[in-house]
Formats: sequence, structure tokens, C-alpha cells
Amino acid sequence: MIFGRVKPLDAILATAQKKSLHRSLGALQLTLFGIGCIIGTGIFVLTAAGAQKAGPGLMLAFIIAGAVCIVAALCYAEIAAMLPVAGSAYTYTYSVMGELLAWTVGWALVLEYAIAASAVSVGWSGYFSGTILQEFLGITLPPWLSAGPLALGGAPGGLINLPALIIALLVTWLLMIGTSESARVNAVLVAIKITALTAFMVLTLPKVETANFNPFLPAGLFGGFGSGVGAVGAAATIFFAYVGFDAVSTAAEETKNPQRNVPIGLIGSLGICTIFYILVAAGAIGTIGGQPIMGPGGVPFPAGSEELARQCAMPAHAQALVCSNEALAHVLRNIGFGAVGNALGIAAFLALPSVILILLFGQTRIFFVMSRDGLLPEGLSKVHPKWRTPYVVTALTGVVVALAAAFLPVGALADIANAGTLYAFMMVAIAVMLLRRRDPSRERKFRVPALWLVGPLTIIGCVFLFLNLPRDAMLVLPVWTGIGLIVYYGYSYRNSHLGRGLVEVHEPELHDLEPEIPGVGETR
Ligand code: ALA
Repeated sequence: MIFGRVKPLDAILATAQKKSLHRSLGALQLTLFGIGCIIGTGIFVLTAAGAQKAGPGLMLAFIIAGAVCIVAALCYAEIAAMLPVAGSAYTYTYSVMGELLAWTVGWALVLEYAIAASAVSVGWSGYFSGTILQEFLGITLPPWLSAGPLALGGAPGGLINLPALIIALLVTWLLMIGTSESARVNAVLVAIKITALTAFMVLTLPKVETANFNPFLPAGLFGGFGSGVGAVGAAATIFFAYVGFDAVSTAAEETKNPQRNVPIGLIGSLGICTIFYILVAAGAIGTIGGQPIMGPGGVPFPAGSEELARQCAMPAHAQALVCSNEALAHVLRNIGFGAVGNALGIAAFLALPSVILILLFGQTRIFFVMSRDGLLPEGLSKVHPKWRTPYVVTALTGVVVALAAAFLPVGALADIANAGTLYAFMMVAIAVMLLRRRDPSRERKFRVPALWLVGPLTIIGCVFLFLNLPRDAMLVLPVWTGIGLIVYYGYSYRNSHLGRGLVEVHEPELHDLEPEIPGVGETR
């Protein structure tokens, strides 16, 4: 029964062909789109949380998380090239493992996209408050307006993260009125991010002192499942820095020769970011040091915890990398490049909203596809007559994203987003392996090399990183899935179009909508 209601592959493909979207994207545009989605709060902000978990072992953490993403990307590449349709992991699962599991994946993608959008909003807030307000305008926001409450892992005196709330609502509004981001704007933002990270490496790497890497693994390689510390614990958190590469697969329907270009876009963007991340981490820790603040028993205080927030409020730790809300700018300011640090802060200030836009957009489109399948109320996918956007679902999603950003710390949000993402990646790997067995003769323009190895490695890697998340973040996934199952059996099961024998896709079509996928479309 668990595999019941499988949406026929041919029906999905026929729908995709019928829509005959204009296929305009090439490999370079896809790679740029991927980098645009990937580089964000993870490297600009979470470097601090990663160092608190692993110290210099953060470099190793980037390698571990990057390796899991690369095998997952190979799986995405095979299935996205075969099924170049909207809905990403949700649609793939629907066609291979049936509606119930597809529902759980779609539900988990809420964590990946919506909660990740909240995390990036909080990351943006750090650079806005530190660089724009403090450095340029000389304004210091009172603590109660710049972080969530301490009880939720915010800062002492914190109540609400106002800048994070505002940016999330602003981006939601832009999406509601149909604002997109053209491929050209995306290319400019990618150039800004790459320039900022390159400048960071050029200025920091020559100043690296090897003593700063000692001890290399102050919290060990493996801190224990659920502990969220050690190099592997840091990998589970810093995995967030890679989230977004799968968005490339969502553009498969609009790609020329997707069989060739989607794999190049996925693997190219991921490979480039992995190299940047490892070198940036080396530059940050090698110059100003990045040892964790240790708690009792020589175990680092949990990142985002009340105890760590109290430690960071003490003058002794004022300059610690692990306490900074704008890690990379902080490093540059500390090694005498204040102006470049501020320029990097401006780069983050300009570029991070586009990551929020892409994530929020991804979320609304997944909800849209699920409601088009009848699994969510059709009212959600109501399209605004003038803006041509699914404004109801966009507004609802945006409000939730903004509230989460207002009250929760960036590290906890990233960990929760990672939990959902790891589940989706694992299901994609399973889908690819099942399809190879069930439908071996279907044309595959890109085949994962040695799938018998890469597939299981992806599954093992995802489960392993999941088990190394902090316990609370881990628990969110089963609780969230439980809520999802109540919704499924309470509503979706009875209303599913497939369950009611309606396989054909119903209006409104995804591509009647504005905007196009941000970062890949024409200028608008
Ligand atoms: N990978 C994206 C970021 O780090 C989500 O912001």
C-alpha cells in the first residue's frame, strides 16, 4: 500500500512535452544559476557556527558535506535529465515510489526551502546590522530588535530579529507582485559573491599561520550522534552551505539539451563552490583562529545555545570568530582590511536576498505542483489576475518564513532545513536506483557512473549527516512528517487527483505563471 498510487512516468513526461516550454538555458547559465542558489548564508555566516563545532576541522567538514552533495548531485542529474519536469524530488518520488512517499518528500521540502529561506534572512540580518547600520550609519540596533529571545537560542536581551522579519516580508511581496530576477541580474550577483570570496582568499591565505590550525580537531572527528559537535557534527550543519544545487534540476524543463546541460550545471556549480568553501575556511581560521569556546568537560558549547550566547557577550570573546554574526567581514576587519571587510559586507547585503527569493520561489512552486495534484487545497494555487502569481500560497509561506526568521537563530534554522533536505536527497537516490531496475530500457542521457556504489553512498551519507545533526533538529523531521501524515490522511488522500482517476494535469499550469524561475529567465 505504501507504494500505491504511482503517477505514471509517461503521463508526467507527456505533460512536460505538451507544455513545450521554451528551452533556452545552456550549461553556463545553469551553472551560474546553481552558484547563485548555493553561495549564501552558509559560507558568509555559518562559518562561525561551524568553527564552534569543529574548530579548524571545519575544513574537513566542508569536504565531508561536499562529498555527500556530489554523490547526491549525480543522482539528481540522472533523474532530472530523464524527467525534466517541475516539482523536483517530490515529482520524482511520485513517479517511482507513489503518492504517500511523494507527499512526505514534498512536506520535507518545506523544511528545505521555507526554513532555509528563514535561515538566509537571519544571515542577511547579521550583515545588515553589522555592516550597513553599524559600520556605515553608526547605528547600533538595540538587542531586543536584532535577535530572537535567548530562550530560543537568540542573544541576551533579544526579542525579535526585525531586519530578518522585514527582508523576508519584502522578498515575499516582490514575489507576490511577480518580480523575478533576470539571468543577467543573477550573473551580476554571482560575480559579486565570487569576487567577494576571491578577495577574501587573496587577502587571508598569505597571512595564514599554521599554529592556528592546532589543535586541528579540538572536539574530535566524531562527537557522537545527536551531539552536533566534532568535524562530522560541523559537516551536518555546514551542509547548509551547499543546499540549493538541486534547484538546478527545477530548471530542467527550460534547459536546452537537458541531458547534457543539467548534469554539467549541477556538478559544475557544486564543484566550484566546494573549492571556494574549503579555501575560505582555511583563510578564516588560519588568520584569526577559530577554536571553539569550550564548556564543561572540554565539549564545545552548542552553537546557538543560551550558554554560548552568554559567553559571547563577555568582553573576552568579543573578537572570537565563533561569536561573529558576519564571520567573513569580521575576519577581514581583524587582520587590518576593514574597508574590504565592509565591501564584503555590502556584497552579502546585496546578494543574500536573491538566495531568499530563489528559495521562497522554489517553495511556492512545490506547493503549487502539490495543489495541482490535488494534495493541497486548490485555493492555494489561486493565481492573481493581474500579477499572474500564486499569491495566496506565496503570502502564507512568506508570513511563516518571516516569523521563523524573527524568532529563531540562524544555526537552528539551518539544521532544521538540513534535516528535510537530507531526507529528500536520500529519496532521490532511492528513486534513481529503483528506476534503473524497473525501467532499465528507458533512455538515460546521463547515467550515474557506478550507481551500485554512488546510490548507496548517497543514502549512507545522508543518513549519517542526519544522525550527526543536533538532537532537536533531528527530532523536527519525524514530528513534521507526523503532522504531514495527519494532513495527508485528513485531506490529501481523498482529494488526490490521481486517487480520483484524474491523471491529466489541470489548469492553471505552472507556466502560465509569473515570474519565471528567478535567476534564469529573461530580463523583466
Ligand atoms: N546554500 C544556501 C546558503 O548557504 C542556502 O545560503
